[in-house]
Amino acid sequence: MQTVLSGSRPTGLFHLGNYFGAIANYVKMQDDFDNCYFFIADYHSFTTHTDPLVLPQHVKRAMATYLACGLDPNKASVYVQSDVPEIPELYLLLAMFANKGELEKCTTFKEKARQKGQTLNAGLLTYPVLMAADILVHRAHKVPVGKDQMQHLEMARNFAQRFNHHYDTDFLVLPEAFSYTEELIKILSLDGTGSKMSKSDNNVNNAVFLTDTDEAILKKLKKATADAGPQEPNAQKSDAVQGLFNLMQLVSKPETLAEFEAAYNDCSIRYGDLKVQLGKDMVDYVGPIRDKIAELESKPSYLKEVAAAGAETARKSGRETLDGVREIMGINYFA
Ligand code: TYM
Repeated sequence: MQTVLSGSRPTGLFHLGNYFGAIANYVKMQDDFDNCYFFIADYHSFTTHTDPLVLPQHVKRAMATYLACGLDPNKASVYVQSDVPEIPELYLLLAMFANKGELEKCTTFKEKARQKGQTLNAGLLTYPVLMAADILVHRAHKVPVGKDQMQHLEMARNFAQRFNHHYDTDFLVLPEAFSYTEELIKILSLDGTGSKMSKSDNNVNNAVFLTDTDEAILKKLKKATADAGPQEPNAQKSDAVQGLFNLMQLVSKPETLAEFEAAYNDCSIRYGDLKVQLGKDMVDYVGPIRDKIAELESKPSYLKEVAAAGAETARKSGRETLDGVREIMGINYFA
């Protein structure tokens, strides 16, 4: 039986990248796999010193978002990371299998190290260890994530492999990144630079959030960067235009996409029309999710119930792994 696990940080703003890169896959996987765990990675957000008044709202919104997108607590365990103390326990033990050098070389850490003003705390350095603990605690086989998490996944495999090798065991499962598409997904920013759509982008116009109003969605797509237009038939698309076509493929009807592809290829395309159509289709796609998020946010006791049930299942699974790990490591002194 294959186990699936994934999570997202609760920043309050979930965008199309989070949705198509991750959450949409979670929703499909809960039907295709029996053992699914999806969680809200609240501990991971403390690396940037969150506001205690804002964090609870963000966690509730993340839970509402998961459920609004279609996660079903009867099919998957949906929980909050800090409700499962087995995760930090495994984190501590796994830290002994992570080398300082490889943590410092991790791209996310290096990026933060370059950003002025970011405190380089030990939590940030050991972020990949905590992420590995999240995954290995359920001995998950498949981890649905976007392309940006690939390196973290490789590190989780390395830690697990080192542990297994040291103790001559195959107890920890080596997890694999998963997507239904051939490659892991990267949804591009609307600024046309080819960078990923990101929560930490300072310009909110570069991302469509699942909580955006219809007007905001239409405005953002209208303003999205395109290019000067194709200069010859069947021209290669720029990052900016490819990004818009990628979104159209995700939210529009196949015939709409085909129509605009054809117009691009014979150079008759008008990007204004493409953006208006994409805007409308995006509103039809995101609107119902946004409304559902709002509806669920007004039911905190239901969200609490889901989180409590999810945590119970996750703790049971986590405990089994921890018992095994402790036994293997010899943490069983007076048996
Ligand atoms: P986070 O919260 O940044 O993002 C959540 C998920 O959304 C995906 N994603 C994207 N996919 C495609 N295109 C984009 N532009 C885009 N932006 C974000 C991410 O790949 C991710 O799948 N470290 C993780 C959270 C985490 C985790 C875990 C994930 C903690 N522990 C264990 C999996 C397993 C993160 O910061 O994701």
